[in-house]
Amino acid sequence: MSDKTVQLTDSATNKTITLPLLSGTLGEPAVDIGKLYKELGYFTFDPGFVSTASTRSAITFIDGDAGVLLYRGYPIEQLAKHSSFLEVAYLLINGELPDTAKFSAFEDEVTHHTMMHESLKNFLHGFHYDAHPMAMLCGSIASLSAFYHDTLDIGDPEQRRLAAIRLIAKMPTIASAAYRYSIGWPIRYPRNNLDYITRFLHMMFEVPSEPLALNPVVAKALDLLFILHADHEQNASTSTVRLVGSTGANPYACVAAGIAALWGPAHGGANEAVLKMLAEIGDAKNVGKAVERAKDKNSSFRLMGFGHRVYKNFDPRATIIRDMTHKVLADLNVSDPLLDVALELEQAALKDPYFVERKLYPNVDFYSGIIYKALKIPTEMFTVMFAIARTAGWVAHWLEQHQDKDTKIGRPRQIYTGAVKRDYTPIAKR
Ligand code: ACO
Repeated sequence: MSDKTVQLTDSATNKTITLPLLSGTLGEPAVDIGKLYKELGYFTFDPGFVSTASTRSAITFIDGDAGVLLYRGYPIEQLAKHSSFLEVAYLLINGELPDTAKFSAFEDEVTHHTMMHESLKNFLHGFHYDAHPMAMLCGSIASLSAFYHDTLDIGDPEQRRLAAIRLIAKMPTIASAAYRYSIGWPIRYPRNNLDYITRFLHMMFEVPSEPLALNPVVAKALDLLFILHADHEQNASTSTVRLVGSTGANPYACVAAGIAALWGPAHGGANEAVLKMLAEIGDAKNVGKAVERAKDKNSSFRLMGFGHRVYKNFDPRATIIRDMTHKVLADLNVSDPLLDVALELEQAALKDPYFVERKLYPNVDFYSGIIYKALKIPTEMFTVMFAIARTAGWVAHWLEQHQDKDTKIGRPRQIYTGAVKRDYTPIAKR
């Protein structure tokens, strides 16, 4: 941490105050404006938190200009090549890569918390058959707080740890159950002789009448996608988990709130929106028109899967996924006309001055939907897949928040633009 400061002079009163400049191990320093209101009587205004750091965190680092993403210091490219999703989850939560004994104990614990309470099935059955699986996931995860009273004392580090394990373990079980309910298939129990990813694929696709022939390419691709989606510092859903967490809410409620935030098309819902957009464009020859529409300020249409608040050069996850997309489609022998549309769109946007000037590049979700489609994951499950992976990050941040002595309830202020004080008029006189 540095002892540098920044001086701020209020030109109206000529009063100068000195504000601490806080630095981390990497990245831009931040001006600590905590005493601004007390000293000058002003709030700061930063819609969308474009220039605001909300917390200190040692979990994930992003350099948006250089296209760098580090989990606990390890470059995403190295983790994508050598690690597995479950090992990455361990890393995010614990801060260090596990040795063999620690990993096997972690895997064993996660594996033995994969079952969901039988009563939760009744809860799922309360949904209409065509409910979106994100709605079912969000409701079911929030409901876990009603099942696990032994992990609701957030002041107890062991209960917090166990809640994190439960969330990582049960998310695939509940996600696959939501999907199977929506298509009228019987819910499958988790098979504990399988690894995390393969077990999930079995719960998704196995039917009682025949064994599942699973191509290992599918499990490998899904594992990689989960690694890439596992965390992304203070993104909208993680910030939501932290904001809800700051009130002292239980971990299941916090993660359910994170799922709700993820669902929006500006965030995790983009992967579903990308596929819908590609299908709507339909053919590579219509790409030009779509690009023009996205540039038209009178239209609300945006190129889904393009742009990122932090990455203004390239999204390193998109680079990894782009290469993988071609490999997976070749390995699975899938030829998808939507991929042609995607590639044409990517090239058209990368050449177009509108997108170049605004530094709008394909993000991770531009390609992930195409791979999910090749893996036969239904479109409405795309954001659910993201939620399963991001649970590792959500719980890591929630755990970190509860160890941070600076944590206090998140409570922003506002610039009020409504009516000034006025007197009530009885209804007959209005
Ligand atoms: N298509 C067309 N124009 C765009 C797009 C897009 N996808 N994204 C941004 N722009 C334009 C805006 O209209 C704006 O133009 P202007 O300067 O002329 O007004 C400019 O680029 C800056 O855009 P902002 O909305 O201010 O950028 P912000 O950082 O707030 O938003 C976001 C980032 C939400 C990702 C945005 O780029 C977007 O909506 N993209 C499409 C949705 C998407 O892919 N979301 C996934 C994000 S990644 C993730 O969550 C995993």
